[in-house]
Amino acid sequence: MSRLFQLDGKVAWVTGAGSGIGRTAALTLADQGAALVVSDINPVGLAETASLLGDRPHLMLAHDVTSQEQWTDGAARIGERFDRLDILVNNAGIMVSRPFELSPLELLQRQQRINVDSVYIGMQTALPLMRQAMAAGAAGASIINIASVYGMVAGAQFAAYSATKGAVRALSRAVAFELARTGIRVNCVLPGPVQTNLGADWEPPKGPDGAPIPPDVALAAWAAMIPMGRLGQAQDIAPLIAFLASDNAAFITGAEFVADGGYTVA
Ligand SMILES: NC(=O)c1ccc[n+]([C@@H]2O[C@H](COP(=O)([O-])OP(=O)(O)OC[C@H]3O[C@@H](n4cnc5c(N)ncnc54)[C@H](O)[C@@H]3O)[C@@H](O)[C@H]2O)c1
Repeated sequence: MSRLFQLDGKVAWVTGAGSGIGRTAALTLADQGAALVVSDINPVGLAETASLLGDRPHLMLAHDVTSQEQWTDGAARIGERFDRLDILVNNAGIMVSRPFELSPLELLQRQQRINVDSVYIGMQTALPLMRQAMAAGAAGASIINIASVYGMVAGAQFAAYSATKGAVRALSRAVAFELARTGIRVNCVLPGPVQTNLGADWEPPKGPDGAPIPPDVALAAWAAMIPMGRLGQAQDIAPLIAFLASDNAAFITGAEFVADGGYTVA
C-alpha cells in the first residue's frame, strides 16, 4: 500500500498474523513505517509472514492468544527488543459454523477463549508497554480489536461465533471509555465476509438434496448476498486498521467501523 499514514517509530503487535487479515494488516502497517511484532499459533503461516516482511524490522513470536503466560512472555520479549508498544491488533480468531441445536456449550467456550478472552488478556498485557511508548514521547497508543458483522447481525448457523464477536464489541467500548483520558484508544473493526482461511476446515454446506455444495458455488452464492457483488479481500480491511493505528485517528475511540461491501446495509 502506498504511504498514507505516518507510523515511523511506532511498534505494532498483530496477533494471528500468519494468515488472512492479520498477515495483510501486518504488511500494511510495515508499509506505513511501523516496526512489527507478528505472532500466531501456526508456525508455518507465521514464518511466511515474517519472510514477506523481509528486512523490515520485525519480531516473530510463537503465541497462543488463549495463554496468559504466552502474552506475558511476548510482552517481555517486546520490552527487551523495542521497549515500547504503540499499536495492538487483536486479530487472531476462529469461526465455527454449526446449527444452534447441534452446538454443544464447548463450541461456544472454545470460540470464547480464542475470540474474546484473548482480547481481554491482550489489552491488559499491552497497557504497560503502551504507557512506556507515551513516556518516550508518543502522542497516544491504539488498540484495534477485530470483531465481525456477525457480532451485529445474524448469519447462517453462527450463534456461538456471533456471541463472541458481540462480546468483543461491548468489551472494546467499555475499555475505550475507561482509558479515554490515558491517550490509549480502543476501536473495533467489523469485517463482512472476507476470503481468507477462516472456516477452511468446515464441512462443505449441503444443498436441499443433502449433497455437498461445491466450494465455488457456495462462494458465489455468498458473494451474491453482498450488495457490491463480491466477497471482501484482506486488503479491503487492512488500510482501515492502519488508519486507526495512526495519529490521524487521535480523536477516535470506542468506535466501530464496518467494512462489508454493504452486507449489513439492508
Ligand atoms: N474472514 C472473514 O470473513 C472475517 C469476517 C469478519 C471477521 N473476521 C475476523 O478476522 C480475524 C482474522 O481472521 P481471518 O479471516 O484472517 O482468518 P484466518 O484463518 O485466515 O487467520 C486467522 C489466524 O489466527 C490464527 N489463530 C487461530 N487461533 C489462534 C490462537 N489460539 N492463537 C494465536 N493465533 C491463532 C490462525 O492460525 C490464523 O493464522 C478473526 O478474528 C476473524 O473472526 C474474519
